[in-house]
Amino acid sequence: MAEPKRFSRKEITERNTKKDAVFIIDNQVYDVTKFLDDHPGGHEVLLNVVGKDASEDFDDVGHSIDAKEMMKKYRIGELIDEDKVFVKAQKSAWGSSSGSTEATNDSFYTSWKFPVMLGLLLTVLYSYVFG
Ligand code: HEM
Repeated sequence: MAEPKRFSRKEITERNTKKDAVFIIDNQVYDVTKFLDDHPGGHEVLLNVVGKDASEDFDDVGHSIDAKEMMKKYRIGELIDEDKVFVKAQKSAWGSSSGSTEATNDSFYTSWKFPVMLGLLLTVLYSYVFG
């Protein structure tokens, strides 16, 4: 696949009209000029964020998986590395191992297993010494 086209944030700020409606979501660049009238949430909300980083507004709405699938069609590239921001991607160590029996990426010490094992060990030790 071809390399994605790269844009700077400054370049995007100039593309803020109905006829050239572009915004950024999670470091990806979307051209929604043709989507304005088809957006189920209306064209006004989109026009409020053209030329800007709409990541937060997009997230706040809690868009469906379908919407996220639909976005791919309007992606025209991504930001240059210098202009990218990484805000989320931080899951707590407690949450990340839930639902699986193995702590996939977590080391033993950052997963829930460590405090649980420590607790058990101390309980056994306590009853042994004072029991
Ligand atoms: C390419 C980007 C986008 C796509 C493909 C998209 C798609 C959709 C779709 C399919 C829905 C219907 C509900 C759902 O399936 O979640 C929706 C609703 C909505 N969207 Fe977007 N959207 C995009 C960007 C945005 C942005 C940037 C904003 C805010 C600035 C926004 C605000 C809304 C609002 C307010 C609703 C209505 C929610 C409701 O009625 O409960 N959307 N969008």
